[in-house]
Amino acid sequence: MAAIHAAAMSTPRPWSGGEFAALLALPGTFATDIVPHAFALGRVTLDEAELLTLATHPDHRRLGLARAHLAAFHHRAAACGAARAFLEVAADNAPARALYDAAGYTTAGTRRGYYTGANGAAVDALVMVRWLGAG
Ligand SMILES: CC(C)(COP(=O)(O)OP(=O)(O)OC[C@H]1O[C@@H](n2cnc3c(N)ncnc32)[C@H](O)[C@@H]1OP(=O)(O)O)[C@@H](O)C(=O)NCCC(=O)NCCS
Repeated sequence: MAAIHAAAMSTPRPWSGGEFAALLALPGTFATDIVPHAFALGRVTLDEAELLTLATHPDHRRLGLARAHLAAFHHRAAACGAARAFLEVAADNAPARALYDAAGYTTAGTRRGYYTGANGAAVDALVMVRWLGAG
């Protein structure tokens, strides 16, 4: 996951293997491992799920891998009792926003200037939500 994350992410900084291991040791945290070259990392707390990160290696994009891992995250989260899923995405991340829009997420709020973009400029974070009951 750390290798994919490092290849996929320009900003913010990629997470190390140790950071992934520490996250996966937390209760309710899980990674999808259905197909290689991509993953989703999520967490369920009571009836809410959070997508912590999602990435596809740049050499394997537009093949449906992120869509498949996002669906696996939804399936696992629902099986763990979550009724809805949340995520944060940078407002200027057009590929991820297209993916989340197509997967049924809607914008629930905006965190102004939450991220620092590649050029140092502040970028808004969109908080998005999707109900999990409909599968
Ligand atoms: C966003 C990301 C995970 C998409 O991964 P992917 O495996 O290429 O995505 P998929 O092939 O499953 O795409 C599914 C849908 O998402 C949308 N999408 C994905 N990449 C897109 C792009 N570059 N431009 C426009 N829409 C895009 C499309 O609707 C696509 O469906 P289509 O190919 O039938 O048109 C990948 O670009 C990535 O790793 N980016 C860097 C990390 C990141 O931003 N993660 C999200 C953090 S919130």
